Amino acid sequence: MRPCLTLAVLASSALAQFTTQIFNFSSYVDIENSVLRPNGHLLLTTFDQGRLYTLDPSRHAPQAQLVAALPVATALCGITAIGADKFAVVGGIRGYYSYTNETLYTVDFSGNSAEPTIRTLVQIPSAVMLNGMAALPTQPHIVLIADSRLGCLFRVDTRTGVSRIAFKNDSLAAPSNATIPIGINGVKVAGGYVYFTNTARGTFSRMPVSADGSKFGKIEVIANLDMGTTDGNWDDFAVDAKGIAYVAQAENSIARIQSSGQRTIVAGGGNSTALIGPTSVQIGGNGKLYVTTRGGTVDGVSYSGQVVEVQLLEHE
Ligand SMILES: *[C@@H]1O[C@H](CO)[C@@H](O)[C@H](O)[C@H]1NC(C)=O
Ligand SMILES: *[C@@H]1O[C@H](CO)[C@@H](O)[C@H](O)[C@H]1NC(C)=O
Ligand SMILES: *[C@@H]1O[C@H](CO)[C@@H](O)[C@H](O)[C@H]1NC(C)=O
Ligand SMILES: *[C@@H]1O[C@H](CO)[C@@H](O)[C@H](O)[C@H]1NC(C)=O
Ligand SMILES: *[C@@H]1O[C@H](CO)[C@@H](O)[C@H](O)[C@H]1NC(C)=O
Repeated sequence: MRPCLTLAVLASSALAQFTTQIFNFSSYVDIENSVLRPNGHLLLTTFDQGRLYTLDPSRHAPQAQLVAALPVATALCGITAIGADKFAVVGGIRGYYSYTNETLYTVDFSGNSAEPTIRTLVQIPSAVMLNGMAALPTQPHIVLIADSRLGCLFRVDTRTGVSRIAFKNDSLAAPSNATIPIGINGVKVAGGYVYFTNTARGTFSRMPVSADGSKFGKIEVIANLDMGTTDGNWDDFAVDAKGIAYVAQAENSIARIQSSGQRTIVAGGGNSTALIGPTSVQIGGNGKLYVTTRGGTVDGVSYSGQVVEVQLLEHE
């Protein structure tokens, strides 16, 4: 796709960016989440028969390659690094806003980059809809996994497989009358905080977390989407070292949210078809974001999941 220049002129800042589709699936595949490997390749989780893909965004016209279909799962969601070139992936058998056989897998490229070692670590039988996942920065073998239906965070020690609910609060759940019953969605841990989106409530929040992921402080809502308008809703996101978040916002944009709550659209938006159903964001080098999408139908045309590069040209 030809790069398209979008100029977003906003009250207090002017941001310009290029969006370039670097890959899309030729048949319908919903890309749900992503992570960057140390070599700069992206791993992509999908709702396509439990399949995990890899893509090298530095190549010309890259193609996604199958890493593996993870056993039992029909859909894969959160993915996070739990060591050097070693990842945890969560997936299960997808039903209607609920999953069975929710499972945590490990995918380890550290021994052989071409043939990763894949293990089924543990099933989490009490989980209903596991979604975003983040490892703790100083103890990356411990992961926090969002359950969008239970409104909680599971804490799993990937060395022992021991899992438990570490935190539960209404702010992580969807309201009982929500149209989309998805509460907590994306999760990231940075600078001593757990950051999270709640899709149904339209909130982006954070709370202090202890280094071992067992104690949590007071929840602070950083930003709110007006759920009554056409603002869309929030999916997964990335947070940079300054605590600035880039959030995938349905139906077609990326919101940049500062810890002050100031919010601007930095890619897509309006009638743009550059991003069709954004689902997750990775921060690459040199002001680049990599966005995954689920695809969808726009003006009667069906699109498959994409990987889109966003080049941020200016920051306020
Ligand atoms: C899925 O979970 C059910 C209920 O716990 C269990 O009976 C079944 O064996 C599991 N299936 C697989 C393939 O693990
Ligand atoms: C859910 O209930 C709240 C509180 O009564 C209300 O403000 C909100 O509009 C309702 N939302 C929907 C989707 O019905
Ligand atoms: C949920 O979190 C809020 C904000 O931290 C807190 O005020 C409230 O007491 C919590 N609710 C429960 C049931 O723990
Ligand atoms: C978006 O498309 C609608 C319908 O085609 C049109 O009325 C509207 O002016 C467009 N908005 C922008 C910002 O281009
Ligand atoms: C993939 O992207 C190309 C270029 O934008 C577009 O023409 C095509 O319709 C897309 N295919 C699918 C299946 O989304």
